Amino acid sequence: MPGAAGRPGYGRSVADPTVLLSERFAGALAALDESLRGADPVVRRSDRADYQVNGSMALAKRTGRPPRDLAQDLVDRVELADIALPLEIAGPGFINVTLQDAFLARALAETAADPRLGVTPAATTETVVVDYSAPNVAKEMHVGHLRSTIIGDALVRITEFVGHKVIRQNHLGDWGTPFGMLIEHLLSVGETEAAEELSVGDLGRFYQEARAAFDADPDFADRARRRVVELQAGDPQTLQQWQLLVDESSRYFSSVYERLGVLLTTADQAGESMYNPWLADTVAELDRLGLLVESDGALCVFPPGFTTREGTPLPLIVRKSDGGFGYDATDLAAIRYRLRDLGADHILYVVGAPQREHLEMIIETARLAGWLVPPARAEHVAFGSVLGADRKMFRTRAGGSIRLVDLLDEAVERAARVVAEKAPGLSPEAAAAVSEAVGIGAVKYADLSNDRVKDYAFDWDRMLDFTGNTAPYLQYAHARVRSIFRRAEADGVDVSSLAPATEFQPAERRLALEILSFDGAVHGTEAALQPHRLCTYLFDLASAFTDFYESCPILRADTPEQLRSRLLLADLTARILAQGLDLLGIGAPERM
Ligand code: ARG
Repeated sequence: MPGAAGRPGYGRSVADPTVLLSERFAGALAALDESLRGADPVVRRSDRADYQVNGSMALAKRTGRPPRDLAQDLVDRVELADIALPLEIAGPGFINVTLQDAFLARALAETAADPRLGVTPAATTETVVVDYSAPNVAKEMHVGHLRSTIIGDALVRITEFVGHKVIRQNHLGDWGTPFGMLIEHLLSVGETEAAEELSVGDLGRFYQEARAAFDADPDFADRARRRVVELQAGDPQTLQQWQLLVDESSRYFSSVYERLGVLLTTADQAGESMYNPWLADTVAELDRLGLLVESDGALCVFPPGFTTREGTPLPLIVRKSDGGFGYDATDLAAIRYRLRDLGADHILYVVGAPQREHLEMIIETARLAGWLVPPARAEHVAFGSVLGADRKMFRTRAGGSIRLVDLLDEAVERAARVVAEKAPGLSPEAAAAVSEAVGIGAVKYADLSNDRVKDYAFDWDRMLDFTGNTAPYLQYAHARVRSIFRRAEADGVDVSSLAPATEFQPAERRLALEILSFDGAVHGTEAALQPHRLCTYLFDLASAFTDFYESCPILRADTPEQLRSRLLLADLTARILAQGLDLLGIGAPERM
């Protein structure tokens, strides 16, 4: 029975009971009353039964009947004979649903046979452009770039897994007035030395020195200003020097990406400079559309609805009064390119919250210009700041800004200490690999598991804790299952013919329901663009596994049937944990 929204119903591939029950109850609502078509029946996990359907309370008003009557109508109408035990109405109109063991067994077997672990592919494939990371050339990557890189990469992986076509765009800050002073500084240090400094990641120092020379030495400042003009005029030698800055910086960025295990490569670079050839044309088009207004010699767009607190309209500066182009113009050319040339159906800007207004103005202007036409859409995927344990801006003890590589080194060092203590039996090479996965994983997970729009406090002890909602806890649960399997094989257990039992104990049942909820967790995360939802799901899964492991002996099960079933539950847990962590860009070592 194909579901209403194009998602297949049970019998094809969906096994997620929340999805399935939602579809069936939505169908019953629509059949009961036309005004309830499309209404959400609100299916939730419950400790009273497996699931509770809570929508009757809110929906009863629309039909003008008491909630309990609506609930009764739903119970009479909904078709669940193949899935659930007889339904019960509780309290003011809750419907309690308990699944049949036979259904659980079928759904688990299907999930086990599915390489996607029950995650249904998106009904329609979209082209999704994800703008993320976007550090600035010859300038240190800061924690904001770290957040953008980590969140953006997780969204890329999840969106791709769901079945969309993803185009990564690293909108490098590689153009603009600072390049005058950067090139002049390059010339005064000498190209070879500058290249060395940049490629090892001394970007912060390089930038600060250039800035200091610019501020202290009027001659330098003059040369820097002339240099910008030469760069914009395309002087070959200046361009070559600029290219050197870009190449060395991007070499450094690539090393950070590799260390972080993110998907970005130089092929995804689409820096600001890439749009230079299209800027004039973009301006001309906005002019033809009558969207440009001259203001103090500059050409501006004033998208309606954006004003200062005093009510003065805010401009996007499309061409500056000196004829130059800046950040606004580049972003307009970029959104036009992404929609027209890349064919984006959906654009995600994974950029810090302070750029909200700028991006909304860009998106609104694209709409006014007729570039962004529904159903295509663009949105700012904003995130908050990283705070120190003192809840102030995250800084070094000396008060300086934290270098990303130092942060990652420290993460791996700290992880190595924890790994040495928890898993003393590992070979030095294995311990090093595990420490890397645990340290980097901990940093990424700490970021992803928090609601992205909020600020979060960076706390080493918490993120490396082997208990609680952390990467090490999930990685450890995964490795524990793998070790159970190694022991099973050593004991001569045939682990190739796992099958669900026909009855489930409460802890087995709770674990089974978590396993079957992966589909909804992935789709919910993708739709809301909230990686923390997937984290919460994985944590619930690992916790259900921990409870199951404590109350249901696996290798000492009572019967061969029970052994096969418990191994199946354990294996599915490990596969989903590994897949889920991979969707977050985090490794899952086999042993820990
Ligand atoms: N380079 C910018 C910064 O460091 C971020 C660019 C974000 N993307 C964009 N299309 N504006 O703040």
